[in-house]
Amino acid sequence: MVVVDVPSSFSHIETYSYYLLDMMVVYAWIIVVTIFVAYGVHYYGVNALQEKEDEESCNFYEGSWVRDESYPLYDSLACPNIDYQFDCLKYGRQDLNFLKYRWQPNNCDLPRWDGKDFLEKLRGKKIMFVGDSIGHDQWQSLVCLLHASATQTPIIHTDSENSSIHNFTIPGYGTSVIFMRQQYLVDIDYEDKIGRVLKLDSIKNGELWKQMDILVFNTWFWWNRNDSGKPWDYIQIADKIVKDMDRIEAFKLGLTTWVDWVNAEIDPNKNKLFYQGITPTHWKGADWNEPQVRNCSMETEPLSGSTYPSGLPPQVLIMEDILKKISKPFHLLNITTLSQLRKDAHPSIYNGHKTMDCLHWCVGGLPDTWNLLMYATLISDDH
Ligand SMILES: *[C@@H]1O[C@H](CO)[C@@H](O)[C@H](O)[C@H]1NC(C)=O
Ligand SMILES: *[C@@H]1O[C@H](CO)[C@@H](O)[C@H](O)[C@H]1NC(C)=O
Ligand SMILES: *[C@@H]1O[C@H](CO)[C@@H](O)[C@H](O)[C@H]1NC(C)=O
Ligand SMILES: *[C@@H]1O[C@H](CO)[C@@H](O)[C@H](O)[C@H]1NC(C)=O
Ligand SMILES: *[C@@H]1O[C@H](CO)[C@@H](O)[C@H](O)[C@H]1NC(C)=O
Repeated sequence: MVVVDVPSSFSHIETYSYYLLDMMVVYAWIIVVTIFVAYGVHYYGVNALQEKEDEESCNFYEGSWVRDESYPLYDSLACPNIDYQFDCLKYGRQDLNFLKYRWQPNNCDLPRWDGKDFLEKLRGKKIMFVGDSIGHDQWQSLVCLLHASATQTPIIHTDSENSSIHNFTIPGYGTSVIFMRQQYLVDIDYEDKIGRVLKLDSIKNGELWKQMDILVFNTWFWWNRNDSGKPWDYIQIADKIVKDMDRIEAFKLGLTTWVDWVNAEIDPNKNKLFYQGITPTHWKGADWNEPQVRNCSMETEPLSGSTYPSGLPPQVLIMEDILKKISKPFHLLNITTLSQLRKDAHPSIYNGHKTMDCLHWCVGGLPDTWNLLMYATLISDDH
């Protein structure tokens, strides 16, 4: 047997070819890994982007009002105990066109309102609206929406002796839908010798609020109210008591006290938190390009399109700035613009006062949409 003396150069070549082979394997791996990584990045990247797009396109609050013959969602004359401020049909409103509009977001659809489904979701739960008469308005609408869906079930409306609390309970579901009147969210206390004191840094009802599964807060109009109607005689800030002060400053301090309460006390596992954005009034036709108009009495149609001629009221920016300090999960019912478009949805003279009202809203009517938006948010959170 001839022993082939392998020339070193050959050996070198062979070593080199092994080296090449190794490198090819390494390169192959690099290529394979690169393809996987690239594909993965692509896949997840596209997905993340898609999700972002879905989120963006599903801004419920950008949209317009469209006529919908299937509306209204209930017959308000069959809804018991509608507050005299909101009961437009009972007090003689004849133009019923305002009940026929559905809010249509620009880039997605709202889930269909399903009262029976919502009742199931609210089984055993307590939901509370805390705030002024605009919170009362939304509570009233939710009462009517749920009442219409619970036809098989007796429903009791309990006004407790405590007139600041309206408690609507749905037996068979163990659900309570409660409105608590606290116009400023912070406290008004009666002090001997002085009288009623609006306390900008005091919230005493928090223990009751914390027992609620869903909370919807609002405040604005009373801060801006002039002397005749205000329910306080003095304002207290820490230890200082004053006769009056810049109301915007007072609003900022009061709302900040509420934000501090939220940050300290809300338990995201127990309390779902909503804040009802500021709603507009329609006293000034100039706001919607009808400068001669001074109230809402002749308005029978919403504005078309998605924008309101005069833009957002300035207090909205003040509110948003303060709400930015909330560190707990919460959802802003951003209803300002969509409500601005509804100059037709106020009671006007069709209310128990028989005076012109372009501040509150008829029930049924616009507040039903605020509740549909809350429903949409709650069911999309469930996913
Ligand atoms: C609320 O909606 C309006 C109109 O779509 C928008 O201009 C505003 O930025 C929104 N505010 C927040 C806090 O999302
Ligand atoms: C009504 O209830 C609230 C909350 O429990 C309480 O702060 C308030 O003092 C009560 N008012 C009356 C008149 O009982
Ligand atoms: C509302 O009524 C229900 C049923 O009567 C009761 O259990 C609940 O404590 C009441 N809630 C408030 C805040 O009054
Ligand atoms: C209160 O009324 C006065 C005089 O009518 C007016 O100048 C002022 O702007 C009003 N203040 C508020 C907060 O509405
Ligand atoms: C409401 O506006 C109408 C028409 O613009 C006017 O005739 C009427 O006097 C106003 N009513 C009130 C209470 O402002």
